[in-house]
Amino acid sequence: MKIIFLGAPGAGKGTQSKRLVREKHLLQISTGDILRENRDNQTELGLKAQTYMDAGELVPDHLIIKMIFDKMDDTSHVNGYILDGFPRTVAQAEALDDMLAKIHDKIDFVLYLKVANENLIERLSSRYTCKKCGHIYNLNFNPPKNEGKCDLDGGDLFQRRDDKKETVTKRIKIYDDNTRPVIRHYKAKNMVQTIDGYGGVDEIFAKILEAISS
Ligand code: AP5
Repeated sequence: MKIIFLGAPGAGKGTQSKRLVREKHLLQISTGDILRENRDNQTELGLKAQTYMDAGELVPDHLIIKMIFDKMDDTSHVNGYILDGFPRTVAQAEALDDMLAKIHDKIDFVLYLKVANENLIERLSSRYTCKKCGHIYNLNFNPPKNEGKCDLDGGDLFQRRDDKKETVTKRIKIYDDNTRPVIRHYKAKNMVQTIDGYGGVDEIFAKILEAISS
């Protein structure tokens, strides 16, 4: 099963991808997570990407495309994968189409998690993530039981550098300009299933499972 998850920053792509990974034993390929790991380890890619990421801007297409294709090369051992955060520009989507056509492969589902822009800032400014396992919390909607600690493994929770209000506003604008056309790209191919991104995490997950099984 090969899935693309589309949606605005804060729509819940990471939260739902992690659930889907557990339920369906898929590999989550999150461009944001891979980039943050590279940035924290100060790799060559991380050093090139960090200025863009901290400013809430997109990392150049050629860096992202190479990074993601390297990762996709290594998916023979899993049931499938979820692309979380890729493609984010039409150029990235076209590069993916070409690469898959060359290897006679295809994406099964494009899931678009739809949340209105006005709800995203509140979600992102109260997001905290576990340093150890990456589990995502929200102080308003799904807070941890003990302040600052992950319920699953006791890891410390941290706030992402790009979740400051002014950076979030910029990320949403960049999403509107660059990633909404990607949704249209897949709609023209009749591949998009739109999931209403409101409601509890469990409720939305049930809608995703229903969309996949139908
Ligand atoms: P990335 O890490 O991909 O960030 P993003 O797409 O902006 O998405 P987020 O991770 O912020 O949001 P999400 O939809 O995963 O929401 P989450 O589940 O956490 O990218 C970061 C940066 O990397 C980019 O800005 C760019 O610089 C670079 N980059 C990455 N990919 C790139 C690419 N392809 N090309 C170029 N550059 C790239 O949920 C958010 C919050 O809401 C959480 O607190 C969560 O608990 C809460 N929440 C979730 N569901 C619900 C719900 N149903 N109700 C209430 N709250 C909820």
